[in-house]
Amino acid sequence: MVAEAGIQATAPVYRPGLEGVPATQSAVCDIDGQQGILSYRGYRVEDLAAQSTFLETTYLLIWGELPDAEQLAAFEQEVQMHRRVSFRIRDMMKSFPSQGHPMDALQASAASLGLFYSRRALDNPEYIYGAVVRLIAKIPTMVAAFQLIRKGQDPIQPRDDLAYASNFLYMLTEQEPDPLAARIFDACLILHAEHSLNASTFSARVTASTLTDPYAVVASAVGTLAGPLHGGANEDVLEMLEEIGSEDQVEPWLDRAIAEKRKIMGFGHREYKVKDPRAVILQKLAEQLFDSFGHDPLYDLARKLEAAAAERLGPKGIYPNVDFYSGLVYRKLGIPEDLFTPIFAIARTAGWLAHWKEQLGANRIFRPTQIYTGYPSRELTPIEDR
Ligand code: CMC
Repeated sequence: MVAEAGIQATAPVYRPGLEGVPATQSAVCDIDGQQGILSYRGYRVEDLAAQSTFLETTYLLIWGELPDAEQLAAFEQEVQMHRRVSFRIRDMMKSFPSQGHPMDALQASAASLGLFYSRRALDNPEYIYGAVVRLIAKIPTMVAAFQLIRKGQDPIQPRDDLAYASNFLYMLTEQEPDPLAARIFDACLILHAEHSLNASTFSARVTASTLTDPYAVVASAVGTLAGPLHGGANEDVLEMLEEIGSEDQVEPWLDRAIAEKRKIMGFGHREYKVKDPRAVILQKLAEQLFDSFGHDPLYDLARKLEAAAAERLGPKGIYPNVDFYSGLVYRKLGIPEDLFTPIFAIARTAGWLAHWKEQLGANRIFRPTQIYTGYPSRELTPIEDR
């Protein structure tokens, strides 16, 4: 009897999507999904978005503490010095099909960095620092380069006098951005920088646990982020708003979508049962942009959809997530829709690298088990008898 009870207690339980299963210990980020609170290393994301910069937040995420002025200046300078990518990578990108998705281009280019910087010394803090600097510096350059290359142009070089966010917008649009636009874009990067053990970060940690190089870690995470249930949703939100078309169509469209059991893009989250705090901040940032650069009628439609969805899906704990308003911000900044997810990747590289470093600090290779559902052992029939 006792033995039977013992067996039952240890029988593996399968939880689809690993819902509620802790797969690691982490001190990087905390989410209170009932109250809608997100913090990085103990600091509320609202405070970081208002008072920090993306590079300072990156430093915090990866090294665990806010930098002092000297540390931050040194980190900013190192990142600035490593923004350029080799002409060989640019040439490789020129051979990518121009109609290919920029996330695929980014995954391939991020992976290619491993060919150039392959010396692996995972127990050397200088190697870790150098790899962080390179990835944080070069990912935006590669995103911007593919944008120009696919338009048939040569990528433009980073500008040393511009800060991180301004320089990215400059490389993308070939124009120095308005300071408010650059500040809002930098805040968007902060909001997307980290979010605990989401699918792409889990992917990054699994890859890291094999002790491969950090470029492979980031490339695998980029591939995971690309899917429409994860980072790819921000692109689909605008498409959905455009499909709805007008405010009077919001309620009939939503009722139809719910009846057809379609997922409403930009809504729902495994962790949050209230409105995602990042959506609250992004909505304010969108409003700031509209006040300065003109209104976007899709915003009115989005707010109407949020209200209608609150009535119908709110009781199930389904509210706007980070992707719901981010697309409207990027659209106002003149960024093409298929670059929304690569921009998410630029920001999330900070979180992936924080988890890479944390994984290395207490590594054990990920090797979960499974519950086998296939055939029992059987005889192989020779091909002429099948
Ligand atoms: N629209 C309508 N119903 C939804 C939605 C939605 N967006 N999200 C969840 N539900 C319903 C779902 O139909 C299910 O209902 P029922 O129990 O009646 O079958 C219930 O809520 C649980 O849904 P689930 O898909 O099992 O939940 P999950 O935790 O596995 O998935 C999610 C989370 C984010 C993948 C999901 O909410 C979703 O597909 N949302 C739309 C895509 C999206 O916006 N993704 C961005 C996520 S945030 C940024 C990021 O992580 O990249």
